[in-house]
Amino acid sequence: MSDVLIPQMQPATPPPINIHVRWMIGRDMPEVLEIECQSFEFPWPEEEFIRCLRQRNVIGLVAEYDDQVLGFMLYELHKTRYYIMNFAVHRDWRRRKVGSQMASKLINKLSQQRRSRLTLEVRETNTPAQLFFQAQGFRAVNVLRDFYEDTPEDAYLMSYRVRSTERDAICSMT
Ligand SMILES: CC(C)(COP(=O)(O)OP(=O)(O)OC[C@H]1O[C@@H](n2cnc3c(N)ncnc32)[C@H](O)[C@@H]1OP(=O)(O)O)[C@@H](O)C(=O)NCCC(=O)NCCS
Repeated sequence: MSDVLIPQMQPATPPPINIHVRWMIGRDMPEVLEIECQSFEFPWPEEEFIRCLRQRNVIGLVAEYDDQVLGFMLYELHKTRYYIMNFAVHRDWRRRKVGSQMASKLINKLSQQRRSRLTLEVRETNTPAQLFFQAQGFRAVNVLRDFYEDTPEDAYLMSYRVRSTERDAICSMT
């Protein structure tokens, strides 16, 4: 008897969801801390979030959907670049483009005239984050040896630069 080909059901990929990105406020903190704890082996305590957010050059964003916080990002403003300090998406909502939409929010702020780069460090063992940032157009530009106090890991310094087409578009508008 010849083999019969049985069609295989592929698990459906959940569709991207449209989040709303807004500034982080005090009452987001419980949800932010929950996401932080499920995302990192060495999570920041609440005091670290508060300490950072008190700095004038640090901005906190959250991704909101249906009144639920699905992700957050803390970034620092420098003269010529933005620096991502902390960034995570709720584990039940990953691979739904929440992270991409948050990263795009920051990428869209870049301009050749002012802040033209976005940088961050990622642990060498954090392959999902490396792949995520690579998919957003970031490139690893340096290896930072023994970067962390908690583990003997190295970090990759990843950077996103505003592209010349973006630069041209911006220049032609000014
Ligand atoms: C990294 C992180 C923020 C990505 O958020 P996300 O909302 O799941 O990402 P997206 O759905 O926008 O992913 C966009 C693309 O990035 C890539 N990507 C994201 N997660 C990936 C993974 N686990 N493995 C491989 N590629 C991945 C894929 O190309 C993906 O597109 P696809 O799903 O169509 O294949 C999330 O995995 C996270 O919170 N991780 C734990 C915390 C962390 O490591 N933060 C970064 C610290 S530097």
